[in-house]
Amino acid sequence: MEYSLFSKPKELFIDLVNPRDYVQIDSVSHMYQNLKVSVQKPLKMVLLYGKPGTGKSMLLQKLNHDLSKHQKVFMVNIPIIDEDDFLRVLAQNLFGYQSEEPLTLTRFLEYTALVEHDNIPIVLLDEAQLYSSTLMEKIRLISDTRTLKFVITLHKTDDEDVIAKEHFQTRIWESIELQNATPEELKIYIQKKLLKANCFDVANMINDKNIQLITKLTRGNYRETNKLMFSLFGLYEWFEKNSPGKIKYNELRKKYIEMAAIHTGLIRA
Ligand SMILES: Nc1ncnc2c1ncn2[C@@H]1O[C@H](COP(=O)(O)OP(=O)(O)OP(=O)(O)O)[C@@H](O)[C@H]1O
Ligand SMILES: [Mg+2]
Repeated sequence: MEYSLFSKPKELFIDLVNPRDYVQIDSVSHMYQNLKVSVQKPLKMVLLYGKPGTGKSMLLQKLNHDLSKHQKVFMVNIPIIDEDDFLRVLAQNLFGYQSEEPLTLTRFLEYTALVEHDNIPIVLLDEAQLYSSTLMEKIRLISDTRTLKFVITLHKTDDEDVIAKEHFQTRIWESIELQNATPEELKIYIQKKLLKANCFDVANMINDKNIQLITKLTRGNYRETNKLMFSLFGLYEWFEKNSPGKIKYNELRKKYIEMAAIHTGLIRA
């Protein structure tokens, strides 16, 4: 394939969650530190919530990555909706339970009773809004025994306040809310991603006005920003190949950002 200045930047913004790609943004790092402290407290559950694309899965993955070095952690990326499967998979991963037989809560609690108090395993559940209230109730019963600790993420939408749901409300936990980025934070996010991958020329093209526009279009949402930047660098790749005279290397063209926004559905054409 022909060399393009924009291929690598484009790849950087593929919407994937990998703790190795974690970017330090002050407010997020601050929350991450709080999260790490909360996890070590004698709390039963810690809740991470926020709108889609604000980085909940990313923080949970990072927590998994960092904690695994020192203690037993099990992360459930895709919710295990079936209640029997849930307990069995947990027991298989935490206690070496071998059988494929479903496990009752009573049997499961027999396993947890053997957990040593100074070494409580941590279970990370992504997308907890997808668990049924009966399963959440079981999770609560398990955490009440203080033999397992749960960190869960909840996807917050505008029209439905999941936290208000009864089974999330009455639990003893600490909650941390993730937000969309401010322009300053989005600038750091984009620049750090590019600089980490040595894309200095492209990083230099992005000025504050560009950032303002990108923030306005994406509302500072990390996922929307990924999509927009991916599409934008794809566009630049095309121009570089087909019409290189059109590219200005001292800034991102407003028109191209808007074209990318139309392409990703952020602007309706
Ligand atoms: N601190 C960060 N460092 C690097 N990338 C990040 C960071 N925060 C978010 N992202 C990126 O933003 C995208 C969206 O984040 P993530 O998938 O974690 O959101 P989410 O809150 O879990 O969304 P949903 O509610 O839809 O599951 C991911 O592709 C991730 O790579
Ligand atoms: Mg997620």
